[in-house]
Amino acid sequence: MGIEIVDSIVVTGNGPLKGQIPIAGAKNACLALMPATILSDAPLTLTNAPRLSDIKTMTVLLRSLGTEITALQDGKVIALSSHEIDNLKADYDIVRKMRASILVLGPLLARMGRAVVSLPGGCAIGARPVDLHLKGLEKLGATLDLRDGYVHAEAKSGLTGAVVEFPFVSVGATENLLMAATLARGTTLLRNAAREPEIVDLADCLRAMGARISGDGTSEIEIEGVDRLGGATHSVVADRIELGTYMLAPAITGGDVELVGGRLDLVSSFVEKLDEAGISVEETAAGLRVVRRNGHVGAVDVTTAPFPGFPTDLQAQMMALMCTADGTSRLEERIFENRFMHAPELMRMGADIDVHGGVATVTGVNKLRGAPVMATDLRASVSLILAALAAEGDSIVRRVYHLDRGYERVEEKLRACGAKIERVSA
Ligand code: UD1
Repeated sequence: MGIEIVDSIVVTGNGPLKGQIPIAGAKNACLALMPATILSDAPLTLTNAPRLSDIKTMTVLLRSLGTEITALQDGKVIALSSHEIDNLKADYDIVRKMRASILVLGPLLARMGRAVVSLPGGCAIGARPVDLHLKGLEKLGATLDLRDGYVHAEAKSGLTGAVVEFPFVSVGATENLLMAATLARGTTLLRNAAREPEIVDLADCLRAMGARISGDGTSEIEIEGVDRLGGATHSVVADRIELGTYMLAPAITGGDVELVGGRLDLVSSFVEKLDEAGISVEETAAGLRVVRRNGHVGAVDVTTAPFPGFPTDLQAQMMALMCTADGTSRLEERIFENRFMHAPELMRMGADIDVHGGVATVTGVNKLRGAPVMATDLRASVSLILAALAAEGDSIVRRVYHLDRGYERVEEKLRACGAKIERVSA
């Protein structure tokens, strides 16, 4: 066995962060926009793309299907061309690395009439984690068969428009169905659809390619199928999760940071909670500026919900802030089971957290203390970095490959605001 180089990040808490942080294009939008290339034989160019390992994984997956992909401007522009799709199988070895790989299923079925896509796997057994995607595609006339860990999907004479009512909101299922329906015969109505800004961004791009879509951003999306889609150039929407994460850097350290490219409408429920906690968010010419209103952070209760509610992807980071707040807060996770893996790690830094089922009760402490901690997933890892910025002494965050999936140049961005943070390879 070879020796694996695993990076860690070392942070020394050194007080308030001050400066500017640029916000990149949204990972989750880009991961849905890239598979949209499959729907057309004409080129698709994505600008403002984030430079992340998840984007590389999607690149590997699409290339395996026959898409030509060129990264320009150091990866900020991605040129895709699916002139010739010559492989209809998305292999387990790639799909297991990233759940968003399932987003090639709808486009492959819609354009090629056939697809074989590995189930994403993970801890859940069987098809449940993608059942909404599969049931929706069946409604559009696809025949599905689950064999050997793969979904074998067929729509020999094409997909047909239908009414698809999701039993609960799923971002991924909405995206898969939205893409598939653009080339279906007739009209599709997606009910109880996700309303996330990434859905609107995908719809904008598909419209630029020639799709007929209305109602995106609401829970009812109508898609009138067309015979073919053309090419487009599309700029990826700002990453509201990266934005929210870095808004917490001045909040947790008592600093003053401007998030360049930040938009209030992308983070309104999050900003409401920050306001309640005594953090002021003000619009500037370049983006958003964040400072504490009177030096303190108050405890606030948070319940995660689909957009426009409080995002589950900011729950871990908000928990880090609440660890240093005045008083006790209650954080309820309603989207994912078992999304409190960061709690025991924060407790290693002196946090007072009590987890019961989907609820974490956090009592603020005067000071967090630096400690060696382990990143367990993408958002958990960045919550540990935020906590470390506010802690006394050194912290070492291990397994930061999770972080590289979703945050580009994190050390550089925080260092520019005065943080003592560096990456070490062990
Ligand atoms: C997307 C985001 C992720 C975010 C999540 C919720 C991307 C690439 N990822 O993930 O960062 O945390 O939205 O905002 O955009 N579910 C099922 N069956 C399905 C589909 C989903 O049971 O067929 C469940 C999931 O297990 C989860 C919930 O529904 O409990 C919501 O998941 P969903 O909105 O689909 O999340 P993703 O699209 O995977």
